[in-house]
Amino acid sequence: MGVTPSPVGRPTRGTTGVNRLRRVDRWIARHPVLRRAEDPFVVDLGFGASAVTPTELHARITRVRADATVLGLEIDPERVTRAREQAAGVAGLDFALGGFEVPTPRGRRPVIIRAMNVLRQYDEADVADAWARMCGRLAHGGILVEGTCDEIGRVVTWVEVGADAVPRTLTVSLRLAALEDPAILAERLPKALIHRNVPGERVHDYVAALQREWHRAAAVAPFGPVHRWRTAVESLAAEGWPVHGRSRWRLGEVGVDWSAVAPA
Ligand SMILES: C[S@@+](CC[C@H](N)C(=O)[O-])C[C@H]1O[C@@H](n2cnc3c(N)ncnc32)[C@H](O)[C@@H]1O
Repeated sequence: MGVTPSPVGRPTRGTTGVNRLRRVDRWIARHPVLRRAEDPFVVDLGFGASAVTPTELHARITRVRADATVLGLEIDPERVTRAREQAAGVAGLDFALGGFEVPTPRGRRPVIIRAMNVLRQYDEADVADAWARMCGRLAHGGILVEGTCDEIGRVVTWVEVGADAVPRTLTVSLRLAALEDPAILAERLPKALIHRNVPGERVHDYVAALQREWHRAAAVAPFGPVHRWRTAVESLAAEGWPVHGRSRWRLGEVGVDWSAVAPA
């Protein structure tokens, strides 16, 4: 009889929460990779102490793809058992033990792997290997969505990585109501960037530019934080920053090409 290999990675704190990943869920739900997928199979890797984030992801993506299925993977076996009990009976939602090797039934390849707040507790040097392992399991044209957020999902950042393990974009999504300073995002950057927010690094320049434009846009604050955010992001674009996702700026979200923020 073959021996089942141990999941790749290590268990870490299981902090999670209701609605914590809503901003990422919604971004995934509109992503063409999901909408056009032949097999809309999505993995939520490192779901944590409860079934909540895979359950919410499943609910949000089945609104746009009724045939979407979600597999929650966790490296901690007790969390898998608990999640199975919590989400028992939801069709198209399952849970299994697994790590960065992304084991799936019959080797089925996910079109999206979402890993939020997982690499945060690893070392920066572990990122490339973890990305390569996860991306190696993606379906053709699939993406890895890897990032970090605060406890209640008001400050969220993630990287979209292609199946070739090459990062493409950094997305920032902030709750604009009561936002004082967008530089708060620096505390929640993905692992690949969080230690790079220092002078001489591109991501430092990006955070500083966003902060500067947000403060310059204070003049339009009476029109509301959405208008102020849009004004700030328009200014970034005018300065030549390769920002995108215009239709989502109203949500406090903005994407930028990875090349503009990549570690030096
Ligand atoms: C902080 S929780 C995040 C939970 C959820 N993703 C969220 O953002 O709310 C991180 C979880 O990732 C799990 N984890 C860490 N390394 C992992 C790996 N290599 N594969 C699968 N799960 C892993 C930990 O056991 C922990 O439960």
